[in-house]
Amino acid sequence: TMPKDTVVKPVNVTCTAPVNIAVVKYWGKRNEGLILPINSSLSVTLHQDQLKTTTTVASCRSFQEDRIWLNGKEEDINHPRLQSCLREIRRLARKRRNDGDSSVDVGCLSHKVHICSVNNFPTAAGLASSAAGFACLVYTLAKVYGVDGELSGIARQGSGSACRSMYGGFVQWIMGEREDGKDSVAQQVEPESHWPDLRVLVLVVSIAERKPVGSTAGMQTSVETSSLLKHRAESVVPDRMKQMIEAVHKKDFATFAELTMRDSNQFHATCLDTFPPIFYLNTVSRHVISLVHQYNRHYGEARVAYTFDAGPNAVIYTLQQHVAEFLQVVRLVFPPDNNNGKTFLTGLQVEPVEISEELKNAICLEPMPKGISYIISTQAGPGPRVLEDPGQHLLGPDGLPK
Ligand code: DP6
Repeated sequence: TMPKDTVVKPVNVTCTAPVNIAVVKYWGKRNEGLILPINSSLSVTLHQDQLKTTTTVASCRSFQEDRIWLNGKEEDINHPRLQSCLREIRRLARKRRNDGDSSVDVGCLSHKVHICSVNNFPTAAGLASSAAGFACLVYTLAKVYGVDGELSGIARQGSGSACRSMYGGFVQWIMGEREDGKDSVAQQVEPESHWPDLRVLVLVVSIAERKPVGSTAGMQTSVETSSLLKHRAESVVPDRMKQMIEAVHKKDFATFAELTMRDSNQFHATCLDTFPPIFYLNTVSRHVISLVHQYNRHYGEARVAYTFDAGPNAVIYTLQQHVAEFLQVVRLVFPPDNNNGKTFLTGLQVEPVEISEELKNAICLEPMPKGISYIISTQAGPGPRVLEDPGQHLLGPDGLPK
């Protein structure tokens, strides 16, 4: 007989996964269950030093049932999308094992799992945490069962945008055309090292509104009612994807910036074209849009681009050489609260610079004190990773959150 402790000791694997921000947006499904989109999309994976999800999966013979804890609270494991991911990864592991893959952990396959996941950023920051969350879950489960290879098609079934968080750098989600969704997967366009000068600022808007319509419900209504969305998916996005991929390959910031802003604007236009209409941008968001256009017009070129997802927070793409000045302009238009003057900027630090009188005069906007509560400064980063240090596990030897 085996010594007792080797029988009941859980296998623990801990991984991290990144957030991604689309520059060609995904909005609308052609299949709700499989999460198949009506258009391809493209995103930048943000660096995990600033924004990440960490997930531990423990597998043990003695576990009675699958369980999950999110940000410290136990949640319902029967959530359909969670079940899809668990089912698909176990199905893949069984298939690999039956095909004779010796790296698949046969023991673990018959055990239940405990899952514990935390974000290093507030959920209230409104940053598509489901993308990092499902990418991390699928990546970690794959390590537990010993399966590797193409996993974005499984992450996609947790949340569409999650498939793009399975890779670092610049990532496209190819919509695919098959009914079974097998060809609807993410693919890296360029690695994170490709464009080292690219910078990302997440402007967290302070004005809290009534809980807006979530992405899933919002895009469903858009597909049902917006003819503009149909036009966008069929006649705009295919060319835009090609242009965006070329701009990324060539590191052509001006083109990248214009396409990014136009695509965000068109996505929000399809929200307004939805019936009843959906509003994600608020007065602070619109102020940021004007600020960016005034800044770019002053220099006669696109130095900064904005993009907005299903909420009011702005994500800014710019280049290293413009970050300090643009941040000064943001401080001018959105004077920070004295209390957070020091922590207004988190993440990659930037030396303050003086801005010219000409630039100040070019920005014709009424200041909105405290309109932005804080800024996360970051860059493109790598895809999911395994944490090797057992001290990082979020679950203790008893299989419960530490
Ligand atoms: C506006 O991936 O959150 O952020 O597939 O229903 O889970 P579901 O939706 P989700 O939608 C993201 C929409 C978006 C644009 C994008 O990230 O491409």
